[in-house]
Amino acid sequence: MLDRIRKHMQIFGFIHFIFSSLKYVLIRPLSILLFILMKKLALMSGPLFIYKILGFHVALMPPPRKKIMSDLFKKSFKEKNKPLKFLEVGTWFGEGSTQLWIDLLPKKSELYLVDAWGKYISSGDSNDSMYQLVSTYNIGFQASHNVLKKLCYYEANKNYIDINFLRGKSTSLLKNFKEDTFDLIYIDASHYYKEVKADILAAKNIVNKKFSIICGDDLDKGINSELVKLAKLNLHKNYSDGFHPGVLLAVHENFQKVNEKDGFWWVYCIDGKYTDIYR
Ligand SMILES: C[S@@+](CC[C@H](N)C(=O)[O-])C[C@H]1O[C@@H](n2cnc3c(N)ncnc32)[C@H](O)[C@@H]1O
Repeated sequence: MLDRIRKHMQIFGFIHFIFSSLKYVLIRPLSILLFILMKKLALMSGPLFIYKILGFHVALMPPPRKKIMSDLFKKSFKEKNKPLKFLEVGTWFGEGSTQLWIDLLPKKSELYLVDAWGKYISSGDSNDSMYQLVSTYNIGFQASHNVLKKLCYYEANKNYIDINFLRGKSTSLLKNFKEDTFDLIYIDASHYYKEVKADILAAKNIVNKKFSIICGDDLDKGINSELVKLAKLNLHKNYSDGFHPGVLLAVHENFQKVNEKDGFWWVYCIDGKYTDIYR
């Protein structure tokens, strides 16, 4: 050490030595401290309970629906340790369905999260409470930030599964996946007819044909001919008469029969055919 100092002074001089030492002793620890501080600041966000107090739902999934989804998972994917590939279209804060998939998926599984985190309720629906959130308060940023934060925490603490965060419109992103990729696709993004239909068609292309599940949220009242008629009259609306017209019509047109419980709907794809039955 002393030898190195002597050599340094011989080559660069005493003044240079003092400056380099100061840099080493002060600036380096200071920059490390600043870096840690910046990291802490970057991870900071409003506590979620504040949203709850304000009546904003960060987890758009009531516990009964969680139970239905969890039971379906256990019944359909019985091989406990087999890694699976799931795609979620519509993540929001990552506190609802996303958390459920993270809890359920076996080690070494892959989870893809697709969300645009932008404005997605049209101005014609400006009375919709979601419109207020995503347009007036631009809450999409906070939602996506919460997901990123969650993923950082997950990777630092558990990291059993691979989670991929994809920001963009589902219509563009889903095209990038190959056929026979996913064991389950959960559709819960836009609830307008054109978009749900596009998401279902894209999902049909990329699920595993041998065995998989396509499912989604917000089929609030199931499907019957009266509701189909009513849906067709209200396709410009996100939500009307206690149901989501776009979800109902898109699901109805794409599958002969689906299972539905508490607004959650699902079909199985078995050997390339869609069915509501699996034994
Ligand atoms: C109902 S929330 C999803 C709720 C979430 N699954 C949960 O359980 O909490 C709908 C999400 O879909 C996203 N979204 C809406 N339209 C989209 C689109 N065309 N492409 C991608 N994401 C979209 C919104 O940004 C929003 O975060």
